[in-house]
Amino acid sequence: MPPIVTIDGPSGTGKSTVTRSIADRFGLPFLDTGAFYRTATLAVLEAGVDPHDADAVVEVVRGVEIDQKAGMTFLDGRDVSERIREADVTGAVSAVSAHPEVRRMMVERQRAWVEEEGGSAVVEGRDIGSVVFPDAEVKVYLDARPEVRARRRAMERGEDPEAVANDLERRDRYDSTRAVSPLTVPDGAVVVDTSDLAFEEVVEAVSALVAAKS
Ligand code: DC
Repeated sequence: MPPIVTIDGPSGTGKSTVTRSIADRFGLPFLDTGAFYRTATLAVLEAGVDPHDADAVVEVVRGVEIDQKAGMTFLDGRDVSERIREADVTGAVSAVSAHPEVRRMMVERQRAWVEEEGGSAVVEGRDIGSVVFPDAEVKVYLDARPEVRARRRAMERGEDPEAVANDLERRDRYDSTRAVSPLTVPDGAVVVDTSDLAFEEVVEAVSALVAAKS
């Protein structure tokens, strides 16, 4: 039985690229749950709702359909893959994803997505090995030193490294201290510090873990 592979960790650790690469290598579907939260956030912004207003946010998120296929993300059938990477969404996503009821709905939808795909997948996020799939066969936690993460993000986006470092620090603090499902190393996860590793080395390390369980 092909496994469920969870890949958690903060941003700038290469989670998305590693996830896609592992999924490709083992012929598994992959789910980017950050994109789910970003899409919910876009729906909230488009509805003109305050991201901190729990009741209003929950009502918006309950009423929209979020889906992902082959790495593309859809809001009510519309391709929002690019739009959800823009600064307004990035700035509001921590507030939206901190509401407990939003997380409950997202967890439910993420589990249903994997079920519909046949029960095996590579799933990346912040709470996948701890909350969404605590019984996953393979759990990985990717980490990197803060300055390395900021540099990678800035290069990826062509943005000012200092502004990126400040934004990362703010989101890290928010994501790790929120009351519900804070970012944490899941029980049983293998921690890989990617700071001084080439991308291929990270993929090799994770592949070895998956191969041992397939
Ligand atoms: O990985 P990303 O930067 O696209 O994630 C966007 C935000 O969504 C991030 O600030 C934290 C949140 N998130 C979350 O709370 N739980 C997840 N499983 C995935 C992302």
